[in-house]
Amino acid sequence: MQRTLPHKVKEVCAIKLARLGSVMIRPATVDDLGAVLELWAEAAENENRPADTHAALAALHLRDPGALLLAVDGNEIVGSVIAGWDGWRCHLYRLAVAPSRRRQGIGRRLIEAAEERFRALGGTRADAMVLDNNTGAHGAWSAAGYRRQAEWSRWVKPLLR
Ligand SMILES: CC(C)(COP(=O)(O)OP(=O)(O)OC[C@H]1O[C@@H](n2cnc3c(N)ncnc32)[C@H](O)[C@@H]1OP(=O)(O)O)[C@@H](O)C(=O)NCCC(=O)NCCS
Repeated sequence: MQRTLPHKVKEVCAIKLARLGSVMIRPATVDDLGAVLELWAEAAENENRPADTHAALAALHLRDPGALLLAVDGNEIVGSVIAGWDGWRCHLYRLAVAPSRRRQGIGRRLIEAAEERFRALGGTRADAMVLDNNTGAHGAWSAAGYRRQAEWSRWVKPLLR
């Protein structure tokens, strides 16, 4: 039977029940956004990319409230990933885990939660942009089943006003 959109939304909301020990994966709320920026300043890949701003993050949350997934332990945000679905493709951004919480399976669980979201929305393939020199990230993406596509490169143009 074809799933209706409300069913899919319920499936996406079910992601927040996923647990890894005391760590829970759930969609971000507007109140989380400041703490997410603090996490990214400390924990994310910050080379060769535009700076993060609260306005940009709020715009993402407004457009797609389920896209920003967080790993939380109590009141502490210990990891993040953006599971971006544009209706056509599934793109992963801002996978980051707090330095003191790495190699505990949190990154893997965030990727799995993002993939659950994509499947619920009808996505068939996910991709991530990863710097060539970020060998730690290569390990995490490889462990989750992702493979580098050597035949593609990224073409970029800044949209300045
Ligand atoms: C990449 C990152 C998100 C991984 O998060 P994590 O919670 O430590 O990853 P997990 O514990 O779920 O690791 C799962 C598996 O991935 C692989 N892996 C994770 N980190 C790795 C590393 N630094 N080097 C090699 N392999 C690694 C391992 O196979 C690991 O399984 P194991 O611990 O049983 O050996 C984290 O290191 C991080 O935040 N890095 C800085 C930000 C970043 O580079 N993000 C990616 C942007 S593309």
